[in-house]
Amino acid sequence: MFVHITGTGSYLPERVVTNEELAASLETTDEWIYSHTGIRSRHIAADDESTSAMAVHAARAALASAGLMPEQVGLIIVATSTADYHAFPSTACLVQEALGAKNAAAFDLQAACTGFIYALEAARGMMQVNPCPTLVIGADMMSRIVDWTDRNSCILFGDAAGAVVLEANDVPGGIWHAILKSDGSGAQLICREGGSRQRVDSPCKMHTLEMKGRAVFNFAVKVFDEVLCGLLQRSGNAFGDLACVIPHQANARIVEAVARRMGVPLATFHMNMETTGNTSAASIPVALDAAVRSGKIKDNDLMAMVGFGAGLTYGGILMRWRGKAGQPKAAGPSA
Ligand SMILES: CC(C)(COP(=O)(O)OP(=O)(O)OC[C@H]1O[C@@H](n2cnc3c(N)ncnc32)[C@H](O)[C@@H]1OP(=O)(O)O)[C@@H](O)C(=O)NCCC(=O)NCCS
Repeated sequence: MFVHITGTGSYLPERVVTNEELAASLETTDEWIYSHTGIRSRHIAADDESTSAMAVHAARAALASAGLMPEQVGLIIVATSTADYHAFPSTACLVQEALGAKNAAAFDLQAACTGFIYALEAARGMMQVNPCPTLVIGADMMSRIVDWTDRNSCILFGDAAGAVVLEANDVPGGIWHAILKSDGSGAQLICREGGSRQRVDSPCKMHTLEMKGRAVFNFAVKVFDEVLCGLLQRSGNAFGDLACVIPHQANARIVEAVARRMGVPLATFHMNMETTGNTSAASIPVALDAAVRSGKIKDNDLMAMVGFGAGLTYGGILMRWRGKAGQPKAAGPSA
């Protein structure tokens, strides 16, 4: 049995915040931000938007591109670190209700910016047991948890959601190899407090994200190389066989450093962080949707997605893209 991505969708909030706009209230400049990150602007959600609402927009677009109705979906996984509610209900249940996906199981998965990669592989595993059409969504509203006075981190992030539909069938191709890794020794490199370590009677405080940027940068370059080489080694392919790599859209300088270190052309990496910033779990599916819709990924292409983030977590997926060709054949008239 093969598991294919048969539909993609994404959503970016309407409001665009440029580097110049940030520079009006922070000690920074467009030149500094762009030269250190490759980011020029990001989308920021409106006050009345939520992570689940963004996820629903992306999911509807993915279902439309797969040609499926919400009732046909058997499983919804939402990768997010910025759930609508602190613990429950899950964002996935809110998405299930809003879509009218009345036959779907639904749960959230938290692996920070690697969440979408983890969720894809979790879905692929579950589909071996129950091969139902599955929605995998990455959605994050980072604007609600960053410290907007910290120029070391807030300039990096944006809000978005991206979604894919997975379908299982006997069409060769689809998701081929996956590598999922973690390194809790780096837990404090990107951290947001305010969980169960905080007693209920302690003074209530809205905690914001804290990050050791340089250490995270070095970690990202190292593990990106490790994951991509590991995937290619497992499949017996060379970098030149890849039509496209979708990296986590954290910082263009990270991707450039990876390309230099591996001695491979930068053009193979599909980047859109210039206009999105780092949208955490949404970053890979949003970039994937753009690459698919622009025709950059075509039938039979070998492609990879690589993520890294808080936890620390990291991982990647190697797949033979079939898109529409990977959809189950419509059942013919019975004899
Ligand atoms: C955050 C990041 C852009 C900082 O770039 P850097 O080149 O490593 O910069 P440094 O942290 O070494 O800081 C260099 C100087 O720039 C300053 N600086 C940091 N942010 C700045 C900003 N937005 N504008 C202007 N100056 C800034 C620092 O204060 C420091 O000044 P100092 O030398 O006077 O102390 C970079 O480390 C990065 O992208 N790391 C990865 C982060 C990431 O991807 N996180 C998410 C992972 S999922």
